Amino acid sequence: MKKVLFVNCCIRREGSRTQKLADHFLEGLRKKEGYEIEELCLMDESLSYFTDGFFEQRERLLADKQFDHPRFRYAHQFAEADKIVIAAPFWDLSFPALLKVYIENLCVEGITFGCNETGCFGTCKADQLIYLTTRGGFYNDNPMEMGSRYIWAMCDFFGIPRYDCVAGDGLDTGVRPVEEILEDAKAEIDRLLAEF
Ligand SMILES: Cc1cc2nc3c(=O)[nH]c(=O)nc-3n(C[C@H](O)[C@H](O)[C@H](O)COP(=O)(O)O)c2cc1C
Repeated sequence: MKKVLFVNCCIRREGSRTQKLADHFLEGLRKKEGYEIEELCLMDESLSYFTDGFFEQRERLLADKQFDHPRFRYAHQFAEADKIVIAAPFWDLSFPALLKVYIENLCVEGITFGCNETGCFGTCKADQLIYLTTRGGFYNDNPMEMGSRYIWAMCDFFGIPRYDCVAGDGLDTGVRPVEEILEDAKAEIDRLLAEF
């Protein structure tokens, strides 16, 4: 069984259009054999950003190589997944801060990446990461888009060779009906699932 980690950062939950894309992906994946889905709903986690004590604890644990400490569970889970799917809306040119806090917790030298004299290298097992998002405006090839581009860079950092993004763009512009945009994105998801 291949382990698929689904990281849910659809803050608006049932009201979220990004969640609709994620639901479509998971529904399609459940029809395929050989995959076990592990869902991590970030909104239900008590994730902490690095404040004084929390940061110092991390430094101490890393110096002592105590990688089995519970605070590193997110990093282990991410590093061990065979495939990763992240769903998050486009907020303020990137994604909600909650996802950044999660990523902050993922970056653990000795678990998700390593370093040597030539630099850092990713040590995650996954061969693919799929990022699902929806955006109010249109951002195709726009450098102002720093959500998907950031996740893509992190993918490279973690050593995950394949990155795919499915984005429903222009949802708040009124240029096209929302359902039509979502259907196009779902068709793209189906194409990705076919070669998953
Ligand atoms: C806090 C917040 C910030 C947003 N920032 C942007 C933005 O910078 N650019 C944009 O095009 N849309 C922006 N939007 C609109 C969302 O990207 C769009 O409505 C998206 O579909 C929301 O996803 P959801 O339905 O999954 O919550 C923002 C929405 C919110 C609530």
